[in-house]
Amino acid sequence: MPKIVADFTIEIAPSLSASASISCASFPQPAAGYRFKILSMATTLSNEEVRQEVAHCAQAATSARDLMARIVRVLHECMLKYNWVGFYMIEKKSDEAPILVLGEFEGAMTPHTRIQLNVGICGAAASSGKTVVVDDVTQDSRYLACSLETKSEIVVPVFVHGQVVGELDIDSHFAAAFKTEDRALVEFCATLVGQYLEKHPA
Ligand code: SME
Repeated sequence: MPKIVADFTIEIAPSLSASASISCASFPQPAAGYRFKILSMATTLSNEEVRQEVAHCAQAATSARDLMARIVRVLHECMLKYNWVGFYMIEKKSDEAPILVLGEFEGAMTPHTRIQLNVGICGAAASSGKTVVVDDVTQDSRYLACSLETKSEIVVPVFVHGQVVGELDIDSHFAAAFKTEDRALVEFCATLVGQYLEKHPA
């Protein structure tokens, strides 16, 4: 039986914390002097609890950017199959075609920091104004690879007064990770951001 060498609580978001234990039979003596890096953590939050946490973010946020940063952090930390979570927002310059620009995100850096609206799963969601769920990215010719580990993806548009202004993009290392309840949760998050932007225009 491994010996527990440390118990601790990790704050994930202002109103959310998780308890954990480090146990390892190979440590010669209790934790003093050891430094730990937490590589992964399981939580027992339900989809509904994550939804409540995100709603709390909308109350606590000090700006739209802050809200988006809080949402990507909560989704990335609490939803174990959400391995990359990020917002792209549409940038419009009068003399250029609109483009999706990477905003707040959690996960590995992506090569796709600017995406045209006629390219990728991201472009498809933004230009159609519809949620796009791809269960197997290898089978979708529109897919722009961000990580070799990505197996499935969901992209949900963010609307302000009926216009698409950006989107919430999530990649998973698991095939078909985004079920009906995931879609509802991600659409809820995107709606919160749209509502926040409507109330707090830049
Ligand atoms: N896969 C996306 C590109 C963005 S990265 O996944 C972060 C696409 O096909 O548009």
